[in-house]
Amino acid sequence: MLTGFLNAKAENGHDLWLRNKSAKNVSVNISKKSAVLEIAVNEIKKGWQGKDGATVKFEFSNDASIYGDGFKLENTRILAKTDLGILYGAFELLRRQLVGKTSGSYTSNPSYSRRILNHWDNLDGSVERGYAGKSIFWKNDESAKELNRSEIERYSQYGRANASIGINGTVLNNVNASSKILTAPYLKRASAIADILRPYGLQVYLSANFSSPVTIGKLKTADPLNPQVKKWWVDKAKEIYKLIPDFGGFLVKANSEGQPGPQNFGRTHVDGANMMADALAPFGGIVMWRAFVYEPSKEDRTKQAYKEFHGFDGQFKKNVIIQIKNGPLDFQPREPFSPLFGAMTKTPVMPEFQITQEYLGWSNQLVFLSTLWEECLNSDTYQKGKGSTVGAVTDGSIDNRNLTAIAGVANIGLDSNWTGHIFAQANWYAFGRLAWNNQLKSDDIADEWIRQTFLETADKSKDQNFVKPVKEMMMESRETAVNYMMPLGLHHIFAEGHHYGPAPWFTNKAIREDWTAVYYHKADTSGIGFDRSVSGSNAVEQYNEPLRSKLNNVATCPEEYLLWFHHVPWTYRLKNGNDLWTEMCYRYDAGLQGVREFQRTWDKTKGLIDTDRFVAVQSKLRTQNRDAQIWKDACLLYFQQFSQRDIPLALERPIHDLDALKRLTQSRDYE
Ligand code: GCU
Repeated sequence: MLTGFLNAKAENGHDLWLRNKSAKNVSVNISKKSAVLEIAVNEIKKGWQGKDGATVKFEFSNDASIYGDGFKLENTRILAKTDLGILYGAFELLRRQLVGKTSGSYTSNPSYSRRILNHWDNLDGSVERGYAGKSIFWKNDESAKELNRSEIERYSQYGRANASIGINGTVLNNVNASSKILTAPYLKRASAIADILRPYGLQVYLSANFSSPVTIGKLKTADPLNPQVKKWWVDKAKEIYKLIPDFGGFLVKANSEGQPGPQNFGRTHVDGANMMADALAPFGGIVMWRAFVYEPSKEDRTKQAYKEFHGFDGQFKKNVIIQIKNGPLDFQPREPFSPLFGAMTKTPVMPEFQITQEYLGWSNQLVFLSTLWEECLNSDTYQKGKGSTVGAVTDGSIDNRNLTAIAGVANIGLDSNWTGHIFAQANWYAFGRLAWNNQLKSDDIADEWIRQTFLETADKSKDQNFVKPVKEMMMESRETAVNYMMPLGLHHIFAEGHHYGPAPWFTNKAIREDWTAVYYHKADTSGIGFDRSVSGSNAVEQYNEPLRSKLNNVATCPEEYLLWFHHVPWTYRLKNGNDLWTEMCYRYDAGLQGVREFQRTWDKTKGLIDTDRFVAVQSKLRTQNRDAQIWKDACLLYFQQFSQRDIPLALERPIHDLDALKRLTQSRDYE
């Protein structure tokens, strides 16, 4: 909590990957003054690890290899076109010194022009799917008050951390938006936050509730074609830009999970998004319209966003971008990419990743998500033939779009280490690094993060016994979680509501079917999996060829998506010769054994880093081991009722009873 902020010197993780290092002497040569450049100068002075007594030059340059807020580095020179380019260059130069990459010239440009955190923070201070304490932006009854000293300090630290990894935008409130955010007291607070974040290059955005003209205006309707409604939004935009001149725009969740939207008035997503876009356009603002929509219908839920949006391609205003979750369902440990990425050729689309671990063990489990995002960005949509990866269709390299963006749902809260788990900081870090450069490799990102977070300057002495094993653990962690949670393409078998542990048995006639687990795994005595081939829900038709045929055929469908696309007999032979049931048993067990190996790996690092963080991670790994055991036991014992086969004797036996697990995992205290 707050004490963590005041006690920032302790190794409690508060300093993230920016822990103070003893710097060598340096002077900075610069011809211009600005708040941004002042921060860059300070950073160089605070963190210089290069030649003692060096002079670093900041230079503005017309170099054609630099664009946007990109930069070019030489040993003691930073070239850029903008002040922010210099700041990003300064952070990169220091990072390279810290990780030991010092020589030669290096140019780097951003993959996306808008690199945005989405905070699902409610105005009462709670955070939807937040596992690191309360909101850093809002608090119960005092939200509208002036910022206090510790808040000002915290927002500077937050701004600095984001600038250091190139994040340049932040949505301050939950997509399930309260209309109140657009009332004067909250806008005033947002403006005060924006003032602190501005020199760090962060633009503020807000989630808007589509009904706002009714709920906080005095109108009878929020129909986007109604002239009074349009005027209400135009006036609201004017009011916002008076307070926040560089306001980024609105994020909108409309006609989804009970949120209001244009369909409430018989209008379309295009009508709604364009109306808001018109209000923001004169000021340069954008609308990020979310594609996370699905109706309570019989249609396979994973098909719905595509069906709803692809027909609208080309009809949105220039300042509208469609924000699409990485997969067609909902941030599962593994999903194929959303087919909508491959369908919109005339409309800018942006990926939405979830940094907060809603379905990945909250802040209790060590899961490095960079590999998940890398997998998505590198997936080929075949939109314009081979090589049309999700990265390429969203970063403008295929269609040369001006408006490019990427969003990550933040995992940040008031906890002293910001993210609840020290290793969850790596996910915030990795999101920023991939948003800046979507070609980066997770392995390199992990390496950088480990060195900056745990080691002193360019320390190579711990490469073998710390960096290497810890990096391997991070790189394996996502696959390990997939194995103990939902291997081979299984999905959405979580406990209802809180989504923490397993509940493959979950079904409830009182709620919509596609919120239950049995809807997704469809286990029966003949087999398991959701048939999305042409003979099933035909979700495969939404993918471009040749991928469509590959996914449609059980023999060519990648095994990691097998049960996502097919209902497969228990006796089906996998490529390694195992039948499906046996392979499931081995996968669940491999997940559990993987976590135990993480514990051993971590225990071996004792004494190599500070005790506080060592112990904190050790304790989290114990919880993860417990959880992996629960996942394995619950899933195997439950599915065994259908497979009617034994668990191979070579594997450890379950240690829980199914009934006990059913009671445990639904309990709210289970965490
Ligand atoms: C998930 C999540 C919700 C969230 C929603 C969204 O369904 O569980 O809490 O509101 O995604 O992305 O809008």
